Amino acid sequence: MNEITIPRPNDLDAFWMPFSDNKYFKGTPRLLARAEGMHYFTPEGREVLDGTAGLWCCNAGHGRREITEAIQKQAAILDFAPTFQLGHPIAFEAAARVADLTPDGLDRVFFTNSGSESADTALKIALAYQKAIGQAQRVRLVGRERGYHGVGFGGMSVGGIGPNRKQFGAMLPYVDHLSATHLPDRNAFSKGQPEHGAFLAEEVEKLVALHGDTIAAVMVEPVAGSTGVLVPPVGYLEKLRELCSKYGILLIFDEVITGFGRIGNYFGSERLGVTPDIITMAKGLTNAAVPMGAVAVKNEVHDAIVTGVAGGIEFFHGYTYSGHPLASAAAIAAMEIHVREDLPGRVRAIEPYWEEAAHSLRAAPGVIDIRNHGLIAGIELQSTAGKPGDRAMRIFRRCFDDGLLVRVTGDIVALSPPLIIEKSHVDRIVTTLGDAIHKEAA
Ligand SMILES: Cc1ncc(COP(=O)(O)O)c(C=O)c1O
Repeated sequence: MNEITIPRPNDLDAFWMPFSDNKYFKGTPRLLARAEGMHYFTPEGREVLDGTAGLWCCNAGHGRREITEAIQKQAAILDFAPTFQLGHPIAFEAAARVADLTPDGLDRVFFTNSGSESADTALKIALAYQKAIGQAQRVRLVGRERGYHGVGFGGMSVGGIGPNRKQFGAMLPYVDHLSATHLPDRNAFSKGQPEHGAFLAEEVEKLVALHGDTIAAVMVEPVAGSTGVLVPPVGYLEKLRELCSKYGILLIFDEVITGFGRIGNYFGSERLGVTPDIITMAKGLTNAAVPMGAVAVKNEVHDAIVTGVAGGIEFFHGYTYSGHPLASAAAIAAMEIHVREDLPGRVRAIEPYWEEAAHSLRAAPGVIDIRNHGLIAGIELQSTAGKPGDRAMRIFRRCFDDGLLVRVTGDIVALSPPLIIEKSHVDRIVTTLGDAIHKEAA
């Protein structure tokens, strides 16, 4: 291994950390300085097993040489060039590669820089499409309670997470929500897709009865990750698809987490057997080595917007860095790894072992539900009275100190390791987490 110098931060004040307890962190910093394969390393060189692929994003594992070299090479060839009224070859190549992996018929790709931008872009595409086909009255957007679509005003409004909204006053107008699919009384400890809950998709009909033909799109995560691993009940997504088609509503799947192999196919829609009209993605697209997101769109939706106008700009939207050369290079290299190493196949191969391992924590103190799908698992704990989230946060910190990175949301521990995980890593995750759950039982 090469000797590298790890900078030791001597001032933590300037960086206002996102979604963080800044005061706690800065009093007790936990830093990650280096990463390789399945592991992070602290500045002191202590190994931390990555149970979360960073933030659900380093799906091919850390420090992939192919990706690093592709970025370095591209930086030397073309650091940046605009994609407004101009183009550079590698952005077109990256888009074509994405289209190769998305479900058939979703072959048009709009680049963004994040999942949040992908969500807002998808919502704008849906509105522009409805207008283009003479349905300008369709201005309403429907999300789902406990949905997470990032932090832009569109994604935040259509998302269904109260704490993410409460500081910010007005949201987008004309937004409604379906109920969350979480039915703990009936589905607790389900393995894979839970049995009960398809009926919740029928709420689309209730919203149509209420709002008439003013709904442009329904956006959901196929498997909701950020609010604690909510797996769609059997038949739920099929019903959503059926009703959206019936009522002229576009169906958007936010695949920022489920994209790129996470649940055993390149996209979750393929694994779950339901094809939406629009797919958002980010994270695993570049293995998180350079920020990039994308929106894959059904050809008809694209064509209605693009070929439907005589000339000039067809879609008044885009980012300076849409299709950035370094991100495009990283995405191509990451997608090549996915295909060459059949990462979705690896997920399917290890999934039964993963499922059994996750559910082996059922008897641990305070565990009230375990959910899993693909290479995702959620372990829900009874909240400590009067202190929601406290127990899971203590478990998170103990795990980190014991050499395992997990993610917590409320009192749910979410696991989503890199897809290159081996059985021995799975064992270590379960042992370390189980131990932490026992020690933080109170
Ligand atoms: C489903 C989903 N959509 C959107 C986002 C937002 O992505 P980003 O943080 O890259 O903006 C996330 C992030 O976790 C996500 O899980």
